[in-house]
Amino acid sequence: FKKKGYHKQTWINKMINKAIILAGGMGTRMSPLTKAVNKQLLPIYDKPLIFYPLSILMLAKIKDILIIVNKGQLNQYKKLLPDGKNLGININYKEQNYPKGLPDAFLLGERFINKNNVALILGDNFFYGQSLSATLKNCINIKNGAKVILHKVSKPELFGVAKIKNKNKILSIKEKPKKFFSDLAITGLYFFDKNVVKYSKELKPSKRGELEITDLLNKYRKKNKLSAEFIGRGGAWLDTGSIEDFYNTSAFVSNIEKRQGLKIACLEEIAFNNKWIGKKDILNSIKFYGNCEYSNYLKKVIL
Ligand code: G1P
Repeated sequence: FKKKGYHKQTWINKMINKAIILAGGMGTRMSPLTKAVNKQLLPIYDKPLIFYPLSILMLAKIKDILIIVNKGQLNQYKKLLPDGKNLGININYKEQNYPKGLPDAFLLGERFINKNNVALILGDNFFYGQSLSATLKNCINIKNGAKVILHKVSKPELFGVAKIKNKNKILSIKEKPKKFFSDLAITGLYFFDKNVVKYSKELKPSKRGELEITDLLNKYRKKNKLSAEFIGRGGAWLDTGSIEDFYNTSAFVSNIEKRQGLKIACLEEIAFNNKWIGKKDILNSIKFYGNCEYSNYLKKVIL
C-alpha cells in the first residue's frame, strides 16, 4: 500500500496528459531511403525510429497521443502502431499535406488538444539518460506557460538555442544563429499550456515560408512564461537528421543494449512497468511481431 501511495504522490500534479508526435516531413536529406518509407519508420538499430520518441512520452506517463504523419503514409504507421491498445495507450493519427513548420502540429491537433495542456515531441529526436524520468516529471507538472529542455552541444548553429539566467529562466532564444549566441540547444521536446493553439494561430510564416517554433516560444518568453529543464552531461540527446546520424545513434543504442542486456525504448516493457498492460497483452505482442529478437526480449520481460 505504501508503495502505491508513493507512486501516486510523485505524479500527483500531472497537468499534461496529451502529446503530439510530429512525424511528418519528406526526409529529403535521407533520400532515396525515404522515397517509399517515412523517415520515422527507418531503423535505429533494432527498432523503428518512432519507438524512441513514443517511449519518452510513455515514460512521462502520457497515454493520449496524436501522431502527425505525411499524407499518404498513414497505412505504413497503422501496420506498426494501430491504435495503441496493445500498449494500454490511445493513438490517434492526423495527416499533414506538406510540412509547414513545427507549430502547425497545434493547428492540425486543435480538436485533439481541446483546451488542454499538451506536449510536443519531434519524431526524430532521441533522448537517453538516468535522470530523464525526473526531468520529465518536472515538465508534466506545468500549469501555466511553456517549458523546453536544453542540452549543451558543440554545434549550436544547427539548432534553436537559448540564453538563460537564474538557472532556468530563459532570457532570449534564436533559431540556428550563424554567429555564436549560446551553446544550449533547445531539444525537440516541448510542454505547453492550453494557450498554445491560440498563439500558434497568431504566427506568421518566416522567410523560409514556415511557422517557427522559436516564434511560438518567444510569445511565452515575452510574457515571462518560458522556463527550462536540462539534460545534463550524463544524458544523451542525439540527432537523426542525416544518414550519418542514423548510424551513430544506432551504434549508441547497440552498444548500450549489448552491454546491459536491456533494451532502450521497448514500448511493451514500459507499458508493463507502468501497469498499463499485463502478461496477456505482451503475449499478444509476441504473436504480432513474430519470431524475432524483440519478441525474445519480451518473453524475458514477463518471466
Ligand atoms: C527544429 C527546431 C529547432 C530545434 C530542433 C531540435 O529544427 O526548429 O529549434 O532545436 O528542431 O531537433 P529542425 O530539426 O527542424 O531543423
